[in-house]
Amino acid sequence: MGQLQRSDDSWEIRTMQTTMDSSQLLHPIDVMHLMHKALRTEAAHVEEAVNALEMGGSFKPFQRAFYRWAMALGYHVEVEDHYVTTWFPETLLTQAEAGPRHLMERLEDLQTYLHVELGRMIVIPRTQRQLRSKVIALGIIQDDLFEAEEACVLPVIRQHISAAQQLELIRRLLVDEEAEGPGDMLDWVAQDCTTTERQWLADLCTGHASRPRWSSLRCGSASSMRTEPMVEDSTTLKSPIDVMYPIHKALRAEAARAEEVVRALDIGGSFQPFAQVFQRWATALEYHAVMEDGYMTAPLDRLSARTNEAEHRHLTELLADLQIYVREAGGPAAVTARTRRHALGKVVVLRVAQDDHLEEEEERVLPVIRQQISETQQFDMAQRLLLDREAQDAGWLLAWLTPHVTATERQWLAALVGHAASGLPMDSTSSGAAPSAEAPQPATVTAPEADAVAGEGRRAAAPRSCST
Ligand SMILES: [Fe+2]
Ligand SMILES: [Fe+2]
Repeated sequence: MGQLQRSDDSWEIRTMQTTMDSSQLLHPIDVMHLMHKALRTEAAHVEEAVNALEMGGSFKPFQRAFYRWAMALGYHVEVEDHYVTTWFPETLLTQAEAGPRHLMERLEDLQTYLHVELGRMIVIPRTQRQLRSKVIALGIIQDDLFEAEEACVLPVIRQHISAAQQLELIRRLLVDEEAEGPGDMLDWVAQDCTTTERQWLADLCTGHASRPRWSSLRCGSASSMRTEPMVEDSTTLKSPIDVMYPIHKALRAEAARAEEVVRALDIGGSFQPFAQVFQRWATALEYHAVMEDGYMTAPLDRLSARTNEAEHRHLTELLADLQIYVREAGGPAAVTARTRRHALGKVVVLRVAQDDHLEEEEERVLPVIRQQISETQQFDMAQRLLLDREAQDAGWLLAWLTPHVTATERQWLAALVGHAASGLPMDSTSSGAAPSAEAPQPATVTAPEADAVAGEGRRAAAPRSCST
């Protein structure tokens, strides 16, 4: 095999017996696999860093991890792109060329976002979510690019580019001569390598590889990951409309679960395990949104109510998009690294949009309901949100909620449903005007002014079942 040796200012190939056992590492260009591995690991570290951000703290710990990834990725893509376009001008690699440009644009977007938007801000759940979504999206673009390159570009380089030219590219990729420590890149690639791979790298760069500076390159441990969503405190349960908190908590948990399941899908398997989780999440989310549009925001003549309805429509679109993707990618062996990555991207986008919406609703809509809507009407809304009158099993939502709620919340929900069903007053958590002794009439919120504002914001019947 071709072996790289550095002698003063030139790199030359010498033949020697190989010590590697990996079938991938045969040509100098195969170092690319190791670099891609290091960059994928770096992306995973950045995701850990965003998960580990402390609420109320600064974005600094994240920025450190991010800039290390961004610098390595930016340098890698730029150098490689330069060589590939020089070697293959006007070839069929146009698709591969669009990839690097797209990636660099997204990388710059994220850098600008960090600098301009988050520079002086403290961490709040919403910005953490948004940032996490951007990091995952960039990781997906990176992995798509690497995968396409490994499948389409590296074989062409192996065939048509001499080992000496391959080595020149590798040297440029591994040794950034303009950087403070030109050997840093090599150390950085080596840290994620197996013993065999490290040996191969060292052989390839004999005379150049320095001892890796492990300590300076390591970053946050996996144990610092925090993927649990923020949960509401059950002490907020005072008005009937506060039924929203346990429901929102369950929806957040469903989204987190969907993300977990899609990440754990086996390559070569089917999307079935995810489809089941997705259907449960989608059904609950759609039902919730339809009931809110029809019975909660319809009577409110306020901009925040219309915004809330518009957000529901956006969530419906994202649900449909994900559902179509999974259905089209369907089949017994549909899960590839690529389809899993793209499904994950869509799940994260939906999760962030949902969680942003739930937060927004809690902050902007619920206070208005508490202030402007009578407790009797609130009971009716709560009943609509908890009991599906049109379903054979009207209590399916309560069953769905059960694993997500605390004992206190469960009691409170039982009292709320009991009240709604019997017309009896709730326990002490409901204060103020005592509800009527009669059971609340259905659709009590369709007050005269409701008709005037319902408008196009209401959907007649959104799909309740999202089978895949
Ligand atoms: Fe809600
Ligand atoms: Fe909502």
